[in-house]
Amino acid sequence: MGLMYRFLGFMFLGFLLFCKAEGAIRYYDFVVKESNFTRLCSTKSILTVNDRFPGPEIQVNKGDTVFVNVHNQGTYGITIHWHGVKMPRNPWSDGPEYVTQCPIPAGTNFTQEINFSTEEGTLWWHAHSDWSRATVHGAIIVYTANADNGTSYPYPKPHGEQTIVIASWYKADVMEV
Ligand SMILES: *[C@@H]1O[C@H](CO)[C@@H](O)[C@H](O)[C@H]1NC(C)=O
Ligand SMILES: *[C@@H]1O[C@H](CO)[C@@H](O)[C@H](O)[C@H]1NC(C)=O
Ligand SMILES: *[C@@H]1O[C@H](CO)[C@@H](O)[C@H](O)[C@H]1NC(C)=O
Ligand SMILES: *[C@@H]1O[C@H](CO)[C@@H](O)[C@H](O)[C@H]1NC(C)=O
Repeated sequence: MGLMYRFLGFMFLGFLLFCKAEGAIRYYDFVVKESNFTRLCSTKSILTVNDRFPGPEIQVNKGDTVFVNVHNQGTYGITIHWHGVKMPRNPWSDGPEYVTQCPIPAGTNFTQEINFSTEEGTLWWHAHSDWSRATVHGAIIVYTANADNGTSYPYPKPHGEQTIVIASWYKADVMEV
């Protein structure tokens, strides 16, 4: 009997690993660089990702793996943190500078690997180095797993979706602040 349970346990583990391997692999390029933006009647140069503020949206299904090639074309070292995403066995891609990884030096690139496991819903990513997060951030939308994308929400399927990112706008240079 015990052996039977152990066998079933192995089968279940194998099934879980199989399910995990089912997730899609997605690639993003994040080019971090200065760009001029006008907000609240003033124009200034801010650090952006792909010339966008807020930055590009990451869209995945639960269980997917994402590789983000971060090209740091700014002046300071930087890392990107995947806020709210568990990083099982993968902390060195999690972002907090000098805690789990060194910052990506200016003029170089580094690919961060994000394994989505149990999350569903709307999360966000942001720079995790000093004040750079003030302008370097964006949304992460985690849809349900592939098989039932859009069919198993705990509410009727919406007619449309709009992402709202709330942030502060500093008139001063955030790095000087
Ligand atoms: C922003 O605009 C200023 C003034 O026009 C210009 O000198 C600067 O090069 C621009 N910065 C970027 C990153 O385009
Ligand atoms: C999930 O389905 C929605 C609605 O059909 C679609 O807009 C979205 O791109 C899908 N998500 C992914 C990650 O494929
Ligand atoms: C993340 O997912 C990829 C693709 O499924 C896999 O090759 C890799 O081993 C996973 N990494 C971790 C730390 O689980
Ligand atoms: C840097 O980017 C190049 C080209 O986009 C890529 O081939 C290389 O793997 C990246 N290096 C790292 C460390 O991520």
